[in-house]
This record gives sequence, C-alpha cells and structure tokens, in this order.
Amino acid sequence: MGGDHARIIASSVGRAHVAAIYDADLDRAKSVAAATAEGRVAKDSYDLISDKNTGAVLIASPDATHADFVLACLRAGKPVLCEKPLAPTPEDCLKVIEAEMAGGRRLVQVGFMRRFDPSYREMKAMAASGRIGPILALHCVHRNAAVPGWFEWMMPITNSAVHEFDIARFLLDDEIARITVHKPKPSSLTNLQDPMFLVLETEKGRLVTIDLFLNASYGYDVRTEIVCERGTVTMTPPDLSHVRSDGREAFSFAADWRPRFSAAYMLQTQDWVKAIVAGRLPAGSSAWDGYVASAVAAAGVEALKSGRPTEVKLVSRPEFYRDLSSP
Ligand SMILES: NC(=O)c1ccc[n+]([C@@H]2O[C@H](COP(=O)([O-])OP(=O)(O)OC[C@H]3O[C@@H](n4cnc5c(N)ncnc54)[C@H](O)[C@@H]3O)[C@@H](O)[C@H]2O)c1
Repeated sequence: MGGDHARIIASSVGRAHVAAIYDADLDRAKSVAAATAEGRVAKDSYDLISDKNTGAVLIASPDATHADFVLACLRAGKPVLCEKPLAPTPEDCLKVIEAEMAGGRRLVQVGFMRRFDPSYREMKAMAASGRIGPILALHCVHRNAAVPGWFEWMMPITNSAVHEFDIARFLLDDEIARITVHKPKPSSLTNLQDPMFLVLETEKGRLVTIDLFLNASYGYDVRTEIVCERGTVTMTPPDLSHVRSDGREAFSFAADWRPRFSAAYMLQTQDWVKAIVAGRLPAGSSAWDGYVASAVAAAGVEALKSGRPTEVKLVSRPEFYRDLSSP
C-alpha cells in the first residue's frame, strides 16, 4: 500500500510531492524512493516525521505500528493520513484522540478509502434521497482470494471487517450497537475461522449482514446492497467489460483490492492534500471514525470468542469530532 500511495502522490496529486520514504525493509524503501522521491530514503520513521522538509505524513506500515507513528505526527503538528485500522485496539485509538484534542487541531485522517469510491457514493446518495423509502437493512460481501500466512485469528475482524464497519456507518448514518459473529464450517484451505458471518444491529434498529470470506480463492469480491422500504440499491460488478464467447458471458474479478478501489485511493489522497492546502477538514474518516471501527472490531472479537451478541462500548463523542462526515 505504501508504494501505491507514494506513486499516487507522485503522479496524480497536485500541490504535493513525495519528500522521502521510510520502510523497515531498506531495499523496499529504496525502490519506492527511486520511483517517487528522487531516491530520498529517511533514516527512520521518526526522523521522517520530524523532518522539516515533510509537511504531512502518510502511514502504511503494519497495523500494530500505526498509533505510535500517528502520535509522533501529532507531536510534530503534522497532518497524517494513516492506513486503516487507526490501531488494532480502541484503547490505542483513544490515545490518538486524546493527543489530537490536546493539540486543538484535527490532523488525523484514517484511510477508509471506500468513502471516496464512486459506487458507494452513488449508493449513499440514492438511498439518502428517500426516493425508495427509508433504509431498512444492508448486506455486505467481503471476499479476498487469499490472505497471507501471518494473518492472525482476530485479523479478519480487526483488519478486514473494519472496512465494512466504517462503510456501514457512512451509508446508513447510524451507529453500530451490537455485533454477533456466526461461524460456519471453516474452509480447509486456512487455519482461520473462514468464512464468518457477522450480524450488526444499529442504534436505529437496522440489521447489517457481512459475509466475510478471506480465502475465497476465486478473486477479490466486494458487494453491497442497501434494502429500502420500496426498493434496493445494489453495487454492480465494477469491471469495465463482459466477454461473450463459447455460449457464455463472463467478467473478471480483480486479484486484490488495488484495482477494485484504485479510484477511491486516488480521490482520497487528492482530497486529503486539497484539504491541507485549503485549511479545511478532510472529507474522509476522522480519528473518531477510526476509534469507532476499532471499538466495533473489539466487540466482534469478543463475539467471535463467546458466540454471543456483544454490545459495542463507545465513550461519548467529544464536540471536537462533530462534523458532517460522521453519523
Ligand atoms: N485501505 C486498504 O484498502 C488497505 C489494503 C491493504 C492494506 N491496508 C493497510 O495498509 C497497511 C500495510 O499493509 P500492506 O498490505 O501494504 O502490508 P505490507 O506487509 O505489504 O507492507 C508493510 C510494509 O511496512 C514495512 N514495515 C514493517 N514494520 C515497519 C516499521 N516499524 N516501520 C516502518 N516500516 C515497517 C514492511 O517492511 C513492509 O514493507 C496495513 O495497516 C493494512 O491494514 C489497507
């Protein structure tokens, strides 16, 4: 993701350039820096963050490192776009929230890029228009071809399903109150509980179903349907062409999230930079949204262990985070 983000900034974002790259794998850092930052590799992450030549920071290191790096950006007073999740636990997200509020400026955006995806935006606009009545339910399918061997048992929820938690809040303008995790017969191709079916209950009484299957083999497949009183809004396959041959019609699935959400990643970064330059709040997910997604995930991990519906526990939202982008 870091390489992709650097290439987007270098090629598709006006008023920004890549000043330097850091990666714990130096060869990786050098190859991305050669393509995007005139070869400039920082000494380490904290050096890059405090460098007076960097005006803003994008974090795409592993989940467990995010909160510390975001806190360093806040200490340096720099805007930061942090890949999801903001942190794997709500407790670490709260440390970010406390630090951001103490600084008195909204500097953190979380990379829930689906909020910028044209298909989700169109679906939200249609449902919100009220033309087909109030929203009753939401169905989400989230399938990856495969996840790496180091993926830990709780990561389907803390790393993958967090996308669905954030987009459900965005589409429904509603908060998630309770989560249940059902465990169907697991695939023999992985040691994870895979698939899982997650059922979310919202504060306004809607149900959200999530069919989460991370070793689905056939490709990357994300689908969503909003069920309203007098109709539904369904995401169509985002491919550009279907092939008809040999008596069949076929379309391709992306191998992973990058081609599927390429427009979303680009629009997210473009808006982030425009917002920094204009001195306005970015349209993407805030640290508060990052905290909520991780709090739902924490309840989901409990529900996975217990098999029971589990309440989502949230601290009350500070005035500092009240804005139009959050429910
Ligand atoms: N928004 C999305 O759709 C999306 C998709 C995939 C991944 N992600 C997120 O992006 C992040 C990176 O995922 P990835 O798939 O690119 O993983 P990756 O393993 O391909 O890349 C992570 C990189 O971080 C480097 N790294 C490890 N520890 C580091 C440290 N302490 N300091 C600096 N660099 C360090 C590694 O060397 C590696 O190059 C994760 O948090 C993941 O959740 C988001």
